[in-house]
Amino acid sequence: MPTNRQFLIDHLPTSKLTPDVFRLSEGAMPSPGDGEVLVRTRYVSLDAANRAWMWGATYRAALKAGDVMAGGALAEVVESRAPGFAPGDLVWADTGWQDYAALNAKHLEKLGKAPAGQPLTYMMSVYGVAGLTAYFGLLDCGQPRAGETVVVSAAGGSVGSLVGQIAKIKGCRVVGIAGGADKCALLTSELGFDAAVDYKAPEFSKALRAAVPKGIDVYFDNVGGSVLEACLFNMNNNGRIACCGAVSQYDAPSAHGPRGVPGLIVTKRLTMRGFIVMDYEDQNAKALADLQGWVASGQLKVREDIVDGFEQLPNALIGLLAGANIGKRMVKVS
Ligand SMILES: NC(=O)c1ccc[n+]([C@@H]2O[C@H](COP(=O)([O-])OP(=O)(O)OC[C@H]3O[C@@H](n4cnc5c(N)ncnc54)[C@H](OP(=O)(O)O)[C@@H]3O)[C@@H](O)[C@H]2O)c1
Repeated sequence: MPTNRQFLIDHLPTSKLTPDVFRLSEGAMPSPGDGEVLVRTRYVSLDAANRAWMWGATYRAALKAGDVMAGGALAEVVESRAPGFAPGDLVWADTGWQDYAALNAKHLEKLGKAPAGQPLTYMMSVYGVAGLTAYFGLLDCGQPRAGETVVVSAAGGSVGSLVGQIAKIKGCRVVGIAGGADKCALLTSELGFDAAVDYKAPEFSKALRAAVPKGIDVYFDNVGGSVLEACLFNMNNNGRIACCGAVSQYDAPSAHGPRGVPGLIVTKRLTMRGFIVMDYEDQNAKALADLQGWVASGQLKVREDIVDGFEQLPNALIGLLAGANIGKRMVKVS
């Protein structure tokens, strides 16, 4: 019988995430009950939000010591005791960091194949949560119009790299904010951003101001904190801020909020709007058709960062939080 490797949460972190937070264990092979499906994990999605789940309840229940580390995955059905699922089907599921999981069929999303000639992993990057988050957050919350200036933070990451490119497709001037000169160079040389600003550089605020001579109309905020603050001060009247996440706060013991709230919101008549990608489920078909069209036409480039090996999961998440990834980070498990 195959073994079921699992990463359990040994203890909840109180400051920066370290590998000892996770404990490798071998669990029993689960067997599916009525209405359940046994799946084998193939690729685990690594997401900045994985760390946020350790602080308390969010849009999902809080994680606690002893739990299998949670995480979404692209998985394959091994055995089904639920109608509509058969061995070999590919699904998106919250398997957690383990080889096998028996899950209620209600919580599985059946995945089609990636379009011909495109890798299966695109189902987890551009056609998965990252692509849909970029699409809905930018187009619905941000409401960008051609000719406007769009700024996006964590611009080299999975969501940000797609946001910037979609904004270009919509005819906007696009500025990315990312950590380090190399990541910034990649945004302009490979992904078509008009400019990129390194938030780790000492003159960040000055550089940002110089990169947006006409001010910011739409800011897609992945990070919160001081980067959000710098953008707030450069927003144009009636600007829109799409609040996607706050990665600068996830791995830090205390949250650091921006100045300018609510003062600048009032004087500049800004709209700041949070969203969760699941809110838009009923519009996924239209979004996926657009995303597929842009990938096929070469307007949207997909960057993936695939780490090989189950045992790499803890360090791959720690690395993501430190900015080691470019594009969608995932771990190939089997
Ligand atoms: N609202 C939703 O429905 C939804 C859905 C999915 C994801 N999200 C959010 O989208 C954001 C991106 O998540 P992701 O999973 O796609 O990760 P990601 O962008 O691929 O990776 C996270 C990136 O954040 C940057 N970062 C880390 N610490 C930072 C800091 N202190 N200040 C500024 N940047 C920092 C790093 O890049 P650098 O090298 O640039 O530092 C890192 O590569 C997160 O806030 C996440 O919560 C929201």
